[in-house]
Amino acid sequence: MTSLSGQKVVVVGGSSGMGLGCAEAALAAGAEVAIVSRDNAKLEAAANTLDGKVEVFSVDIQQEDKVQELFSKLGSLDHLIITASATAGGPFLKMETAMAKNFFETKFWGAYFCAKYAAPNMSSTGSITFVSGVSSRRPMKGLAPAGACNGALESLSKALALELKPIRVNTISPGIVDTPLYDMMPKERRDGMFEASAKVLPVGRIGYPKDIGDLAVSLMGNGFISGTTLDIDGGNMIG
Ligand SMILES: NC(=O)c1ccc[n+]([C@@H]2O[C@H](COP(=O)([O-])OP(=O)(O)OC[C@H]3O[C@@H](n4cnc5c(N)ncnc54)[C@H](OP(=O)(O)O)[C@@H]3O)[C@@H](O)[C@H]2O)c1
Repeated sequence: MTSLSGQKVVVVGGSSGMGLGCAEAALAAGAEVAIVSRDNAKLEAAANTLDGKVEVFSVDIQQEDKVQELFSKLGSLDHLIITASATAGGPFLKMETAMAKNFFETKFWGAYFCAKYAAPNMSSTGSITFVSGVSSRRPMKGLAPAGACNGALESLSKALALELKPIRVNTISPGIVDTPLYDMMPKERRDGMFEASAKVLPVGRIGYPKDIGDLAVSLMGNGFISGTTLDIDGGNMIG
């Protein structure tokens, strides 16, 4: 099992879903953990579910100056993972452009700011992990901005793996994972979607935040993985 004892892990998006799964896995591996998102109440509630001491920081990562402030407050760190994202789903011709832009403002530019202001404070054995999604290479109707943004992050992470070396930079690309991202869907529709997805995936189930957390921690601990995108999708890419 990977040990992150004595190491500091910052999870941006750590109040929910995959981010919370990453915080949980990092704590279990012995790390010191800080979670970041916008909503303080949500952060406190998330911290209360975690087994261990966690620092919480409420910051909107769309705001570059606030991200800079956050990382100067946090000081030195070992690992950064950014799971924070807005949502933008719907037909290309009908979706408000503002929604697509807002998606990029959080998921791409927010992650960009986090990497930019964290990297100077990171240990040379540390790592940055971005989170993309299968839609970058397996396009889906209604997810054009998501696919484009995920592709941009995957590309950014490869360039940063060269530029920020020896800090390792990777991207995790998940398939469908049961998280609060889908809370806005009526329960019956959501359950139906999860069930239908499980049926077509080679592994016969959808993903859970723990799956992502476990992968994130092994990436943090493995000093020989950099500049790559790791699919964690139950076999979606070949299904
Ligand atoms: N779930 C899936 O099936 C799936 C599939 C493929 C890819 N993904 C990707 O996986 C990543 C994680 O998704 P998830 O399912 O874990 O989502 P989630 O449960 O909705 O969590 C999103 C997190 O982002 C934070 N956040 C949103 N806007 C923010 C901002 N401007 N500044 C700071 N924090 C912000 C939210 O907290 P606050 O509201 O408190 O800010 C929350 O902690 C996303 O990039 C998503 O696109 C998800």
